[in-house]
Amino acid sequence: MVSDVLIAGVGMTKFEAAPERTSRDLFAQAAGEAFDDAAVTPDAIEELFYGNFMGEFAETQGHQGPLMADAAGIDAPATRVESACASSSAAVRMGVSKIRSGQADVVLVGGAERMKNISTAEGTEALSAAADALWEIRAGVTFPGAYSLMANRYFHEFGGGREDLAHIAVKNHDNAVENELAQFNKAIEVEDVLGAPTVSAPFGLYDCSPMTDGASAAVLVSESYAAEHGLETPVAITGSGQASDGLALQDRASIPRTPAAETAGEMAFDDAGIDHGDVDFLEVHDCFTVAEALALEGLGFYEPGEAITAARDGETTRDGDLPVNLSGGLKAKGHPVGATGCAQISEVTKLLRGDHVNSDAVSDADVAVTHNAGGTVASCVVHVLEEVEQ
Ligand code: COA
Repeated sequence: MVSDVLIAGVGMTKFEAAPERTSRDLFAQAAGEAFDDAAVTPDAIEELFYGNFMGEFAETQGHQGPLMADAAGIDAPATRVESACASSSAAVRMGVSKIRSGQADVVLVGGAERMKNISTAEGTEALSAAADALWEIRAGVTFPGAYSLMANRYFHEFGGGREDLAHIAVKNHDNAVENELAQFNKAIEVEDVLGAPTVSAPFGLYDCSPMTDGASAAVLVSESYAAEHGLETPVAITGSGQASDGLALQDRASIPRTPAAETAGEMAFDDAGIDHGDVDFLEVHDCFTVAEALALEGLGFYEPGEAITAARDGETTRDGDLPVNLSGGLKAKGHPVGATGCAQISEVTKLLRGDHVNSDAVSDADVAVTHNAGGTVASCVVHVLEEVEQ
């Protein structure tokens, strides 16, 4: 039986356009907040795993592991983890493994990304590097383009349409209205989504996550360290799973299915010893509206073709049976890609602890799941978080 990994503290910058800030400045803030929240000092950290995707492109900055260790004030081995938009959940998973293996008792995990210091066109080009360079990028595929192919194929195989997707955007904007860390605190209506300028059909502006600057961090500790130091650690990571798929959509057996999410989800659920009925709420990777439906189907909460109506039918809204993306999701909270996975961990931790602005929506909850994808779900990392007895 492997031990649980406890979340001693979390931190996250406001997700926003902050083109004047550097990624080291953003990460230092998130890490500092995580240290304060954990009541742990930087000198206790034994290792850093840090997620970042496009630092070379946005800041001409590679070798970000030691840079971020220095920025956070820690003197420890530091490794940058790159897994496209799943970079910082992959970093979280490495921290979890490190503690479970007994190689460390206190680890800092997190990530950062700058996207608003460059133009949308440059950001789009940088992001496209997560697609297959031989078969997709040279054909002109961008991420709005790739996910719109998935959406159109979904409609073709299973039905559904733009209005169903619009309800996903409306729900996630609603959830972000009171979240002061979210990029957009603005409620929208279905008509706003349907009337917005087209980005890549069927997606309009409100079907897309935005470009965002931001950072996230978490201090993970072993059970023995928390007990020895009297730390308050009401939330644990009890399950972790990760899986891969081919990068190019053309190689997939089914375009609107995400087998990496299926495998990562099963792995994480088995690891935690839970099943679907135990899960009270989720944060999933809604980089485009259709991606939320694909995630819920990939994780097995819905059969293929059935999750597209979940938001419209009120099943995944804050008062629904299975609230999804109470933070606002990538759609409204924002999506600084290298920070997103650990930001999901930060938001879920607060939701479970009761100190998130939307905690009231899940006041009886004790089990939540995060789902973070890279590319068109060629990488997927799933974590199970649970409230634990102190
Ligand atoms: N949702 C809601 N509003 C958005 C938005 C979004 N996704 N993106 C931008 N806006 C708003 C801005 O806040 C701004 O509002 P304002 O005029 O009131 O200040 C306005 O729209 C224009 O913003 P701008 O940044 O100039 O938009 P843009 O047209 O250059 O870019 C997208 C919009 C959708 C093309 C861009 O955000 C994008 O490419 N998103 C996808 C990112 C992506 O692919 N991520 C990886 C996923 S795998």
